[in-house]
Amino acid sequence: MTSSRQPAESRALPARTQTPPGPPGHWLWGHVTGFRKDRLTFMRQVAKDYGGVVALRLAHRRLWIVTEPTVIETVLITRAREFRKHFALRLNQGILNNGLLTSEGDFWLRQRRLAQPAFHRSHVATYIPTFVEHTMRLLAHWKVGENRDILDDMMSLTMRIASRTLFGADGDNHAQRVRGALDVSQEEFVRRLSRLIQMPKWVPTPGNRKIAKVVRDLDTIIYDFIRQRRASGEQRDDLLSRLLHARDDMDHTRMTDQQLRDECLTIFLAGQETTALALSWTWYLLAEHPEAAARIYAEVDEVLNGRVPTLDDLPRLQEIEHALLESMRLYPPAFILGREATADMELAGYFCPKGTTILMPQAVVHRDPRYFANPDNFDPTRWRNEFEKRLPKGAYFPFGGGPRICIGNTFAMIEMTLVLALIAQRFRFTMVPGRTVTTNQLFTLRPSPGVPATIVIRPNAGQSHLGG
Ligand code: HEM
Repeated sequence: MTSSRQPAESRALPARTQTPPGPPGHWLWGHVTGFRKDRLTFMRQVAKDYGGVVALRLAHRRLWIVTEPTVIETVLITRAREFRKHFALRLNQGILNNGLLTSEGDFWLRQRRLAQPAFHRSHVATYIPTFVEHTMRLLAHWKVGENRDILDDMMSLTMRIASRTLFGADGDNHAQRVRGALDVSQEEFVRRLSRLIQMPKWVPTPGNRKIAKVVRDLDTIIYDFIRQRRASGEQRDDLLSRLLHARDDMDHTRMTDQQLRDECLTIFLAGQETTALALSWTWYLLAEHPEAAARIYAEVDEVLNGRVPTLDDLPRLQEIEHALLESMRLYPPAFILGREATADMELAGYFCPKGTTILMPQAVVHRDPRYFANPDNFDPTRWRNEFEKRLPKGAYFPFGGGPRICIGNTFAMIEMTLVLALIAQRFRFTMVPGRTVTTNQLFTLRPSPGVPATIVIRPNAGQSHLGG
């Protein structure tokens, strides 16, 4: 989906009684029980039973589940200005504060303008040596025949890559501490999501105390990086330097330390785990579909002939790109996108009151049989012949859409393609027998209990010039 900013138009409001259909709920709690148990199955079921726009209630909170692509396009793109991020994202605000993911309005726009150039393809290209070096370091530890959790490996790999590309830091220490703190915050976030009443930040509940400690730890680490960089005056090739030196075209100001802190943490949180999950799901699916994996092996052998991949190789690594698109279709790492109506409005012909939360679950929409034949099948070949361009906007949006589209999508696609290519040149996986993989629905969609796989060397890997 591409971005566009159109002015909000004034529209006639439908009658207040014109609300979308939905299942009957408990008189007090509404649909909390169904939602708490297994959000995805619940949303799939209500979309099947009631259609593309469904009204629910979580106690006092009005919630619409929107799975109709034209309405998703309206919310994310054409009338994006009439919506803001939803309440659940604000539950994270104590940690991310005013970073790109959670900020709004003119402040967000300025920060986005400042940060955007750092994510331009030409800048991402300078991180390629880091993607390659860290992947090769990981592969040097793999032993043929051993069982490994691929999720664990991809998490550490993307953490090291994020640490280096963000802060120029190499040791595991800082990255592990940031990751550990963000893990605690994600657990607390999920707990808060299922709670009906939120305690204010100043009440010393165990959850609030935990978050306060996380914030202290994160601040110590990130402000240290910022201070050292400012003191040294060094202009490095990492994201921190690029953000620190970015100057606003309009008012010629730069980011303050607090803004830098918020953006660095946001980028770490938004980019590291999502990328690891997409890579892990892709390897899981490839291990289960040897014919799709074989096409990737043939492709890397033909295109790279044992060389380390470069930016110029990317357009020719089509099988890898299609496998990634297909894996993010079935298991989108960010699996629900949310917005909130900022005023009473008409939406999809219904009356949508101010404050309504609009949830657009990619994990449901991406399996709509109207757009994806055999929607539950992993079939990367469907992406051939520019299939994506023929899809309606709003039918496939793993990176979101409109003005708030993921700023790191090019970064992620380049990183993931290179990592997949480097691994595929040398190894394949078979899933450990008897270990079933299911989905764990946190803030992101994780494979549970991970991706337990056995490492198998590819017969022709000996011809590789990769070493390591
Ligand atoms: C496969 C990997 C990734 C996926 C699936 C993903 C998904 C998303 C989605 C769906 C959004 C939109 C959220 C919304 O509209 O509410 C988003 C926003 C964002 N992503 Fe990503 N992301 C990925 C990788 C990355 C990377 C690598 C970075 C940074 C290095 C990053 C940084 C961000 C930021 C800063 C935002 C907020 C943008 C804004 O609102 O202006 N993401 N991402």
